[in-house]
Amino acid sequence: MMNIDDLQELAANRRSIRGYDKTRDIPDEMVRKILDCARWAPSGGNGQPWEFIVIRDEKTRYEIADLFLKQQEHKKEMELAVRGDAKMTGDGFRHAPVHLIVLGDPRVKETYPVRTMLDKADSHFYTGLASATLLIHLAATSLGLASQYVSDASSPYMETMLKVLLGVPEPLKVYHLIPLGYASKPIPARPRRELDEMTHYERYDMAKYRDDREFQKFVMTASRRGYYGKRTWVEDDTNQPTDPKEAP
Ligand SMILES: Cc1cc2nc3c(=O)[nH]c(=O)nc-3n(C[C@H](O)[C@H](O)[C@H](O)COP(=O)(O)O)c2cc1C
Repeated sequence: MMNIDDLQELAANRRSIRGYDKTRDIPDEMVRKILDCARWAPSGGNGQPWEFIVIRDEKTRYEIADLFLKQQEHKKEMELAVRGDAKMTGDGFRHAPVHLIVLGDPRVKETYPVRTMLDKADSHFYTGLASATLLIHLAATSLGLASQYVSDASSPYMETMLKVLLGVPEPLKVYHLIPLGYASKPIPARPRRELDEMTHYERYDMAKYRDDREFQKFVMTASRRGYYGKRTWVEDDTNQPTDPKEAP
């Protein structure tokens, strides 16, 4: 059994990798092991909502990346219109030798208790898919592989087109695309909040509560919108306002 230090190291070493080495393939056996980890994920009602498509064919991978680029156009336009700034992820994943598509079967909601069906069916469904997905990323990291969350795969345009391209039947949903391969270059860890800032003992410690200004500072510096800590924060009102209508 893995010890806590190994698990902590595994968690801390996983990265979202957006550039892949097109010269390095990965064996089928690795992919099978990764998916075998994923199927042990917990899920509401043990409904196991996940199914996986493994894609190696280069033509299909490139078609997928082209669909991604097309849906990015709308996304970028919306970012620019609302926020005046659009730092988008690219299509570097097209070079990853394997694309995994995580599908979800919403019929598993029938495994939930009646009340759960009424008030948390969607949340349980997606939590199961997220759990399996995280195990895929961790398993890939444990094998020295790079992976990425491509959640845009479930945007209406891309999901529709992917379902046609890959012959996915109704009522299955496309959840995420996960490229697998080797990183084209090492990536430093992205910022994380300090453990003591987010942990409360016995009851909520209001001294740790982030007011709106502190929260905005977090969004505009440490998050991806804050370019992972590379964006400077100015202590005046020239920073991004909270109301998108006022965005530059
Ligand atoms: C639900 C979810 C959706 C995400 N969607 C995307 C995505 O569409 N494209 C992408 O490149 N990264 C995506 N990410 C990755 C995050 O941007 C990334 O986890 C975060 O910036 C921290 O970086 P790290 O994963 O390297 O620690 C997603 C992550 C999660 C959990």
